[in-house]
Amino acid sequence: MAKDPVAYKVSLVNGDDLSVLKTILRLHSNHEMVQRGLVQRLLTLSPNLLNISLEKLYQLHLIRKTNVRGRESFRITFTGMDVLSIKELSMRGVIKSIGEVIGVGKESIVYLGENFNGEKIAIKLYTIKRTSFRNFRKTREIEKKIDWIAMSIQSAKTEYRNLECVSRKGGKVPKPYGHYLNAVVMEYFNGKELQRVFTNKPSEIFDEIIATVNIAYNECNVIHSDLSPYNVLVNGEDIRVIDWSNSSHDRLKLEKDIGNIITYFNKKYNFSKSVTEILDLVRG
Ligand SMILES: Nc1ncnc2c1ncn2[C@@H]1O[C@H](COP(=O)(O)OP(=O)(O)O)[C@@H](O)[C@H]1O
Ligand SMILES: [Mg+2]
Repeated sequence: MAKDPVAYKVSLVNGDDLSVLKTILRLHSNHEMVQRGLVQRLLTLSPNLLNISLEKLYQLHLIRKTNVRGRESFRITFTGMDVLSIKELSMRGVIKSIGEVIGVGKESIVYLGENFNGEKIAIKLYTIKRTSFRNFRKTREIEKKIDWIAMSIQSAKTEYRNLECVSRKGGKVPKPYGHYLNAVVMEYFNGKELQRVFTNKPSEIFDEIIATVNIAYNECNVIHSDLSPYNVLVNGEDIRVIDWSNSSHDRLKLEKDIGNIITYFNKKYNFSKSVTEILDLVRG
C-alpha cells in the first residue's frame, strides 16, 4: 500500500527541520512572510544547516517561499503545520502511528491512528482555508487579513476544550487524548453517521443525543452550534456526538441544534416531538 503522504513526510523530518518549522510558525504571529535572517537569529543552527533544512522543507511542500523586497521569505503550509502537530504529539506520547484517512470534512481531515496503549485513535487535522468560507461575501482586502493558520489552531483548541468538559461530565463524545496546533487526538469510534443508518433504536439514540446536548449546555456552558445527523456517529445503541469546534453561547443556536435533530427524527422515524418541549427540558 502506498504510504500516506503526511505520515511519510513526518518520517522524513529531523530535529533541525522541526526547529525551523516551529520558528517560522512562531514568527507568523508578527510576520505574514518570514525572512531567512529572522529565522537565523532565533536558531543556533549554522547558516549552511539552515539552508539545507529550508530547502528540504520547501521540497516537501512544508513551507512555501517568495521574494519580499528582494529577500527570500517563507511561509508554513497547512501540510507543514500537520507534520509539526503529528511529530510533536508523537514525541509527547499521544500518537504512536498514523494510518488511513477516515473522514474528510469541510474544514478538516480525520486520520485513523494508534496510541501507545494499543488503542485506535482519530487524529483530526484542521485545515481552514479560504474555500471553507465560499459562502461569505468578503472583499479581497478583508480576505487577505484573515489568518487561516490562527483560525485552524483556534478550532482545534476549542474542540479539545469542549470534548474535555463534555466527556468528563459523562456526555457521549469521543474521549480527547491531546491536542497541539491544528490537531486534536481523540478516541476512535467505530460507527456510521446517523444520517447514513436506519436504526431500530431511534428513541434510545434520540435520548442520548439530547442528554449530551443537555450536559454540554448545563454543565459546560457550551452549545454545539453545528448539530446535525452528520455529526452524530452511531453503533447499535451507542453514539458519539462529534465536531465541537463551532460551539457558541448563542441561545438561538441551541434552538437550531435541537430543531435539526427533531426535524430529522420526526421525518425519518415518525416522531412527533416539538422543539419547545425539548428546549424547555434542556433549559430547565
Ligand atoms: N472520533 C472519531 N471516530 C471515528 N470517526 C470520526 C471521528 N471523528 C471524526 N470522524 C469521521 O470524520 C468525519 C469528519 O469529522 P468531523 O469532526 O465531523 O469534521 P468536519 O468539521 O470537517 O465536518 C466524520 O463525519 C466521521 O466520519
Ligand atoms: Mg462534521
